[in-house]
Amino acid sequence: MTLRLEPDSHLLVLTGAGISAESGVPTFRDAGGLWEGYRFEEVASPTAFVRDPLLVWRFYSMRRAGMRGIVPNAAHHALVEVERRLGDRFLLVTQNVDGLHRAAGSERLVEMHGNLMRSRCSRCDRPAFEDTTAYAPGVAPMCGRCKQAGYDGLLRPDIVWFGEAIPHDAMERTEAFMQRAGAHLRFLAVGTSGMVYPAAGFVNVARTLGGRSFLVNKEAPDNIAAFDEVALGAAAHLLPTFFVHA
Ligand code: APR
Repeated sequence: MTLRLEPDSHLLVLTGAGISAESGVPTFRDAGGLWEGYRFEEVASPTAFVRDPLLVWRFYSMRRAGMRGIVPNAAHHALVEVERRLGDRFLLVTQNVDGLHRAAGSERLVEMHGNLMRSRCSRCDRPAFEDTTAYAPGVAPMCGRCKQAGYDGLLRPDIVWFGEAIPHDAMERTEAFMQRAGAHLRFLAVGTSGMVYPAAGFVNVARTLGGRSFLVNKEAPDNIAAFDEVALGAAAHLLPTFFVHA
């Protein structure tokens, strides 16, 4: 299967954990998606952070450590290539926090769930900052700015957790792109189980606008019926030859 791009096509790509699978980053809901007996939903929430910040930091420190030596794969690179051809008629929205799209060279990129390699304060409004530290088990880092002011604010990963809102500008940019594209919208979802909203609903927006939707995924996800065309298989295998330019 291929996706044919006309001179007026606008391509919105949504990626999930599956696109990084072949780089060696584990997905969430495939086999092995449990961590020490926890579903990751149980450690990726504001409630979990309030209840047990050490547990939450242990989980994210492990994920940071797990990124060492991990590099983008052929699927990430294929999206850089198609962006070069389309320019502003391209937008990549990722649910991944692994930073691999940026590392591959994607520029028109919305990281809607944040970034694993950034932290921010859970108490004050200090802007998020780069933080690649994998903290030792039993350590939950404190915010230096709060400490100076005599408060004990804990740092947290700059990630959108379950129960939290997607940053306003991320949604706004995505929606504006879709509206601008109208019926010229080509929507492609790659490596996502289609269970987490609002991303899982983009395919319906594409349909409402009169665009066409495509899915590249290893297994059939929950929202498979919503897509016009489906290719089941590994993203790194399928994407390099997927785009055809008219
Ligand atoms: N190529 C393509 N698809 C793949 C590959 C691969 N090599 N390997 C796995 N997949 C597919 C799986 O079949 C599955 O449908 O990728 C999907 C991964 O699904 P999830 O693990 O649920 O990840 P994702 O959809 O990104 O999760 C969405 O939920 O976990 C939270 O906030 C987190 O951003 C995440 C969001």
